[in-house]
Amino acid sequence: MALQMFDKERTLQMRQKLIGQSCRLFFSHEPLKIVKARGQYLYDENGTQYLDCISNVQHVGHCHPSITKAATAQMELLNANSRFLHDNIVQYAERLANTLPQKLCVFYFVNSGSEANDLALRLARQYTQNKDVVVLNHAYHGHLTSLIDISPYKFWKLEGQKEWVHVVIALAPLPDTYRGLYREGHPNPGQAYADTVKNLIDEVQNRGRKISCFFVESLPSVGGHIILPPGYFPKVAEYIRAAGGVFVADEIQTGFGRVGSHFWAFQLQGEDFCPDIVTMGKPMGNGHPLACVVTTKEIAGTFTANGVEYFNTFGGNPVSCAIGLAVLDVIEKEDLRANAVRVGSQLKKLLKQLQAKHTIIGDVRGVGLFLGFELVKDRVALTPATEEAGLLVQRLKERHICLSTDGPWANVIKFKPPMCFSMEDAERVTEQIGFILQAITGHIKISLTIQLNVLY
Ligand SMILES: Cc1ncc(COP(=O)(O)O)c(C=O)c1O
Repeated sequence: MALQMFDKERTLQMRQKLIGQSCRLFFSHEPLKIVKARGQYLYDENGTQYLDCISNVQHVGHCHPSITKAATAQMELLNANSRFLHDNIVQYAERLANTLPQKLCVFYFVNSGSEANDLALRLARQYTQNKDVVVLNHAYHGHLTSLIDISPYKFWKLEGQKEWVHVVIALAPLPDTYRGLYREGHPNPGQAYADTVKNLIDEVQNRGRKISCFFVESLPSVGGHIILPPGYFPKVAEYIRAAGGVFVADEIQTGFGRVGSHFWAFQLQGEDFCPDIVTMGKPMGNGHPLACVVTTKEIAGTFTANGVEYFNTFGGNPVSCAIGLAVLDVIEKEDLRANAVRVGSQLKKLLKQLQAKHTIIGDVRGVGLFLGFELVKDRVALTPATEEAGLLVQRLKERHICLSTDGPWANVIKFKPPMCFSMEDAERVTEQIGFILQAITGHIKISLTIQLNVLY
């Protein structure tokens, strides 16, 4: 039976009535109804095309035919419980292992980033027999209760900080060389920021508490698209291990070649650096719910030794794994990492050219197709230009380009497009940003009512 198509107004009314209002929409003041998509383009109910600069889940492009084909073929054949032996899960684990340091070789397949992070927490705690967790301020690690607890981005607005969570905040703001304590020009910001984590660890241990892990996004996303200084992770890992904890890298936003030069963003921190646990999700299934935790034999061994089965009804089913394999194939065949390097550096160059013309652009940062630029009211005080950022996103949407804001002050415009984003797309979006900035910086005093799109 064909699905009935409602007019947009009716869809909106039904959504308001039937769907929890805390499930927010993009552009909530004037949402888009998208009815089909291909590659990096979205189409609304009237056939209007939008350039998608924000869908990091549809990693190899919306509705990629190879992914659809792999999913359909496997669905026609079998989608059984992962307690039966099946080739897809082992082949997929082996392919993923080939992208990772040798030490990371035991996989658990799950269905969402939150499930992956929750399991990572269990693994870290079981292995270390410690409970406490060290996180960066503004971090987001998922929507489960356990993860809200370790996500300052959420818990500051809810019940607050639990006694077993330690936020690298007063001692060290985000390891951000634009806005943080140690900025560009500092001889070794990586070491300096890592030392502030060490100070926190010492303080926590002096209170008799025991640390299970440092839980961190390889590139903090909702924290404002931060590129961590070189040397930071290896030093923090050294300190956290010395304190009896393990290093968990959340690659849910950043994995699968988004940074171009490497398959995983933690690899930007050096060949020799290896986390103890890595979690992955969003881009993994190109939109199909597929996520994973990988860890070492030792950590997995301790988890097994507790004698309790880890059973996940849908995790690692043959269809999910067929899709995961197809995503890896497309990344390779279409050389999407090279595309991320090429298009990402062009986009960054164009954004830097805009920065030279518009003082409101305080910083342009990123790697591959994980890019952001920060709007500030002045370049010395770095006062966030939040209103202007919201207005820019709104105006871009009117010009059929989807972008959104991020960061604690919603003043960072973030790019995480499907990896097939092209040079022409980069030129189109930067040209439009230039026009809009020209127009809005002249009219900035006009009072604005903007509903900010805080998306992730
Ligand atoms: C860094 C990070 N970790 C974890 C999650 C949670 O993933 P999911 O929404 O698939 O549960 C997200 C989702 O936005 C995320 O950005």
